[in-house]
Amino acid sequence: MYIDERAIGLFYPFEMERYLETLLGERDPLLKEIEEQALQETIPVVTPMVGNFLNLMITMSRARAVLEIGTAIGYSTIWLTRAVEKNGGHVTTIDLNRDRLTRAIQYFERAELREYITTIDGDARKILPQLPSMFDFVFIDAAKGEYLDYLNLIYPLIIPGGVLVVDNVLFRGWVVPDSTFPPKYDRMVGGLRQFLQELCQNPDFTTTVLPFGDGVSVSQKKLV
Ligand SMILES: C[S@@+](CC[C@H](N)C(=O)[O-])C[C@H]1O[C@@H](n2cnc3c(N)ncnc32)[C@H](O)[C@@H]1O
Repeated sequence: MYIDERAIGLFYPFEMERYLETLLGERDPLLKEIEEQALQETIPVVTPMVGNFLNLMITMSRARAVLEIGTAIGYSTIWLTRAVEKNGGHVTTIDLNRDRLTRAIQYFERAELREYITTIDGDARKILPQLPSMFDFVFIDAAKGEYLDYLNLIYPLIIPGGVLVVDNVLFRGWVVPDSTFPPKYDRMVGGLRQFLQELCQNPDFTTTVLPFGDGVSVSQKKLV
């Protein structure tokens, strides 16, 4: 049986995602090219629905200082930056895979967005404590087993009222208790469950979890 690779990360009917994508309309040729590259090389990138959601969130929150953890080849960064540019802001994006970051930079140049993006090559867990300024919007999409580490390190860097969006928090639905999944994902699933628990119970954030894409959490840091 033919299985569309894009269906693998989803825990709800792929037909639903495909239908919602049709409502988004066609992406421009550059985004389509990156989607196809990512699919061919099995580089996990956000779904177009999540990309569009990030773009909308940046526009609605009028965010100007944006941080992304997990650039890969720049797909989500382009969705973010297209909205940040209109707000007169800037995106800082971190990835420890130098080859992917180099390719992302080529896409940023082609998208004519290079001047709005600072790329940082390295492990976010080492870089975050060294960042000199705060952010009003943070997007996390890196190693699922490290989400709790990122959360603790990112907390002091988000301004009061700032927004935190995290991708893959439902991880194919496997975070739901009593799900069955291959044992090699034990650590990741356990880490994500703990992450969601801590984020949702954190009194300094108001959080909701949206069951689309691979599960997206949206939190706002309380004003004081
Ligand atoms: C899911 S991909 C990011 C996809 C990208 N956000 C998109 O949608 O286009 C995750 C990326 O996180 C990077 N990564 C994993 N652990 C990291 C860490 N500790 N610090 C920085 N980057 C990390 C990986 O190299 C990988 O490219």
